[in-house]
Amino acid sequence: MKIAIVIGTRPEIIKMAPIIDEIKKRNLDYILIHTGQHYDHEMSDQFFLDLELPIPNYNIGVGSGSHGEQTAEMMKGIEKVFIDEKPDFVMVQGDTNAVLAGAIVSSKLHIPVGHVEAGLRSFDKTMPEEINRMVADVCSHLYYVPTEESALNLVAEGINPKKVIITGNTVVDACLRNLAIAKNKSDILSQIDGHENILTLTMHRAENVDNLERLTQITDALLELEELTIVFPVHPRTLKNLEKFGIYSKLVEKDHIKIIKPVGYLDFLLLLSSSSMIMTDSGGLQEEAITLNVPCMTLRYNTERPETVTAGGNILVGSKKDKIIETAHMIMNDPKIQKKMKKAKNPYGDGKASKKILDVTVREYENGNLNIQAPDDLMNQFKRKMELIDYDITVKEFENSQNAIIRTVYDNGEAVFPHEMLKLKNKYILFDHYSKGEI
Ligand code: UD1
Ligand code: UDP
Repeated sequence: MKIAIVIGTRPEIIKMAPIIDEIKKRNLDYILIHTGQHYDHEMSDQFFLDLELPIPNYNIGVGSGSHGEQTAEMMKGIEKVFIDEKPDFVMVQGDTNAVLAGAIVSSKLHIPVGHVEAGLRSFDKTMPEEINRMVADVCSHLYYVPTEESALNLVAEGINPKKVIITGNTVVDACLRNLAIAKNKSDILSQIDGHENILTLTMHRAENVDNLERLTQITDALLELEELTIVFPVHPRTLKNLEKFGIYSKLVEKDHIKIIKPVGYLDFLLLLSSSSMIMTDSGGLQEEAITLNVPCMTLRYNTERPETVTAGGNILVGSKKDKIIETAHMIMNDPKIQKKMKKAKNPYGDGKASKKILDVTVREYENGNLNIQAPDDLMNQFKRKMELIDYDITVKEFENSQNAIIRTVYDNGEAVFPHEMLKLKNKYILFDHYSKGEI
């Protein structure tokens, strides 16, 4: 089995690293394709060093550009590699333009795609990431979802639950594996005066940093939060805008704000784990905060990681100055809230996501379930039905006896993912009944 892995940006390198380690452990054949979307040393190469990753077999070198330019260049480059290399399976991760390009090209070449971190939805289609996730999910064949909530997003969109595997998030694998190494190797804390009350800040979302009004509100809050040591490894997009809008000089004048270049993963993990709180608009940081038991404030009005909010570890503060200051003070000054946020249960698993992902992928490949073929006869093949079950039966027993696939189970009005051993008595089920052939 030859696997092609497509990556393009910092978070994809980090979250694919445990999968690459697992592939290497199993001696599987693979190629690594970097689109080159992130290219600065500290946004790309540093992570290959920190995570001891192999140099990519291909770097398409797309660099920066508009969405159309970037995605088109990626698609051209990836298509050429796939035609030459003929992988059996393609893996993409997350919601960047690399995921969009990789998934579209693979599906057009009839190469099955596995989407790592599938099923996340912010329900905000103005975010480029939401479109990327949704398109990638349309093109995918295996969906490695971090939580039951993301699994339900997919089944609600009509994805076959048999292709949806709840694995946890590989960021937990990366985080747990590398924190121990970071504690030995990183000296980041020696560069920060006063380790008390560190607030680690990152932001790079277009809707925050390309917008003068929102960026001003957020940075005005930072200027006033003088009780904290704010460590701000600044993303290149954000740095450009802080300079363009004339905000950068106001921030660097302040003793309590320490703006630094983006740091490597080991330094960053140690910094996060030593922080009293995290302020961010990053997706990965919301997950890492709850993994490392650090209270998180998210500079957004929605999140595709709602589990972190429900669990109590993350507060959506938006981008208004007063709300940001008020929430930071509340976390800093109220030990009860602090404790509750730190104790929030991590919804993203136990650090074994990459193992589960590879187990299922190899099994599906060996069972011949990843062959893409044009269907002979789709017309009249199945009927979708809803039924209240009033007898003892599990999902698996029902599916086997009825030649059916259960799409969703409704328990007291709540949608539930159809796990095989789930008991169906007194629950409504939505299912596809197949009149002929295999499911
Ligand atoms: C991209 C992803 C976003 C992800 C983020 C992770 C898309 C649509 N966006 O956003 O989902 O959360 O990466 O960090 O795929 N730049 C540099 N050096 C670099 C990379 C970027 O200077 O190595 C600057 C360029 O001026 C560029 C800008 O940052 O125009 C934005 O970079 P881009 O890759 O387009 O998007 P990100 O904001 O990084
Ligand atoms: N990160 C890092 N150094 C930094 C900032 C972030 O190593 O200076 C890591 C962070 O630990 C997380 C990932 O980068 O795993 C998040 O990337 P980013 O916020 O750029 O993207 P997103 O997760 O929002 O897509």
